[in-house]
Amino acid sequence: MSHKIQTLSGYIHEYQKSVLQPEVFWGRVAESFHWEKRWDKTLEWNFEEPDIKWFVNGKLNITENILDRHLFIMGDKPAIIWEPNEPGDEAVTLTYRELYEKTNEFANAMKAKGVGKGDRVIIYMPMVPEAAIAMLACARIGAVHSIVFAGFSSSSLADRVNDCEAKMILTSDGNFRGAKKIPVKAVVDEALESCTTVESVIVFQRTGTEVTMKEGRDYWWHDVIKGQSKECKAEIMDSEDMLFILYTSGSTGKPKGVVHTVGGYMVYTYYSFVNVFQYSIGDVYWCTADVGWITGHSYIVYGPLLAGATTLMFEGVPTYPDAGRFWQIVEKHKVNQFYTAPTAIRALQAYGLEPIEPYDLSSLKVIGSVGEPINEEAWHWYHDHIGKGNCPLVDTWWQTETGGIMVSALAGVIPNKPAHASLPLPGIQPIIVDAEGNELKGNNVEGNLCIKFPWPSMLRTTYGDHERCRQTYFSTYKGLYFTGDGAKRDHDGYLRILGRVDDVINVSGHRMGTAEVENAINEHPKVIESAVVGYPHDVKGQGIYAFAICDMEGRSEENLIAEIKKTVANIIGPIARPDKVQIVPGLPKTRSGKIMRRILRKVAAGEADQLGDTSTLLNPEVVESIIESAKNAK
Ligand code: PRX
Repeated sequence: MSHKIQTLSGYIHEYQKSVLQPEVFWGRVAESFHWEKRWDKTLEWNFEEPDIKWFVNGKLNITENILDRHLFIMGDKPAIIWEPNEPGDEAVTLTYRELYEKTNEFANAMKAKGVGKGDRVIIYMPMVPEAAIAMLACARIGAVHSIVFAGFSSSSLADRVNDCEAKMILTSDGNFRGAKKIPVKAVVDEALESCTTVESVIVFQRTGTEVTMKEGRDYWWHDVIKGQSKECKAEIMDSEDMLFILYTSGSTGKPKGVVHTVGGYMVYTYYSFVNVFQYSIGDVYWCTADVGWITGHSYIVYGPLLAGATTLMFEGVPTYPDAGRFWQIVEKHKVNQFYTAPTAIRALQAYGLEPIEPYDLSSLKVIGSVGEPINEEAWHWYHDHIGKGNCPLVDTWWQTETGGIMVSALAGVIPNKPAHASLPLPGIQPIIVDAEGNELKGNNVEGNLCIKFPWPSMLRTTYGDHERCRQTYFSTYKGLYFTGDGAKRDHDGYLRILGRVDDVINVSGHRMGTAEVENAINEHPKVIESAVVGYPHDVKGQGIYAFAICDMEGRSEENLIAEIKKTVANIIGPIARPDKVQIVPGLPKTRSGKIMRRILRKVAAGEADQLGDTSTLLNPEVVESIIESAKNAK
């Protein structure tokens, strides 16, 4: 843990070093890991193509740094504590040794089914320890995992399977979520009707739900591990070999596969984890995300386990059996660091203080927030009632593409400020630019957030389409990585993230491309055209608001709205279900035919009195009827 910064002056010193000599800085962090062969050069990069390589020609396996390295001293220490959906069911603890053995055993089982280095494996699983084992087993044998959140629909799953040409799917029979039992394998079966590359499916039995097993393709997890050795030689990987692909929404209709590579991701997730959360060996750390999102990758599995931490995985939901569940778990496992999303905080805030009162939260040392801007009210509630006013609250800004936390206080080291992500981590060089890309220096400036120098865990490409990566992130401003977020640097030099400046909405901390939702809505046979915008939502941060021009023949407005919502939930998944749908006679368009979303955003936010100039529209008359029919939105 020699890389843990413990004082503000230490932070300032480290930050300076990281900017003046980034290669020396990151080289030192990387040296604390086990490499089969040391790298020749720490960094090669340009942001034009882009081409980014960290620890060039270094050879390693990330699982040796997670598992083998920790066996000697930490073998009997808990690596994963799993808290099941039902509070009455027993929690499961896996020590580092058990995790090592289970990973190897499953890695051997995957190999036996013909999966090897470079093959893509889709993981579509609930929050069970086997999801982490699946990830690590892939990494052990050099297979590239791509996790699809188990709430996505069969067609979203099929799109991802096809895009990365996956050879194997790892899944479960079903999934417990609160009072619900959700079929999982059945969704895989449906997806596979339109996939040709998958040779085998391994099914972990969780719920006992009846499933169809296709002979020669589908196997039970408990069968394939039978007789497998608990030793599996780690595949030697190049530092720049792919570790995983994770699909994320953008402003175009098709999710893109963000690619992270082994060496840099390892170094940065470890470094950011110990520093942001100020983790000490023996602490119990809990991040409530799902492994299907980047937060689950970097800060449930990789970062914590690289640091030899005890990481808690929770299968259920915050409100089952009641709104005290999170706090019951904190008390039960004496959680020291707790990391969640503002949407969860706001949802729990609505239940008042009663659900918290029975529980002893005194084990908490650090609390964290991720995924969206945390509003001041939620910040104070979280800080006062969960952190009891004496836990640093780290508001961590980052993205799927950045791989790790970029801007955040280091708990207890950098002073907190409500609703401000605060300062960049060492090695991170954020700048704020105006629309032309000119850097806005000094304090009290607001503009678009870019990063001007590479960091180890940044994305390398978007799978199968490097040009898309260049276009999306490196072409808006020459020589800069563009985040898609707006930001403000306040009078103290603290960064405040203002939210997306592109056509991406952030629903409960999850990214949704408006185009993706529109494409789904347009699949409904009665929809002629649609436009989707975000609007302020009390719990979700942003809600999805859809405007649709429809052929109303034979349908009532109410039925049609319900059908449209259902269509989106079927095509993408329940997380994309619009919160509100409004049937409109037309959409406001510019003379070049582009939808004027600015106007729709105002209507959705209930601010139709602040529309500004609409006279340049092709069809200004439509605006009145949109405002008028807003009351019918459901
Ligand atoms: O808009 C920012 C918002 O979430 C986006 C990234 O989403 P995703 O790739 O799904 O990753 C979420 C978890 C890392 C960002 O572009 N965002 C994330 N964290 C914060 C945030 N906005 C404000 N404050 C944050 N702490």
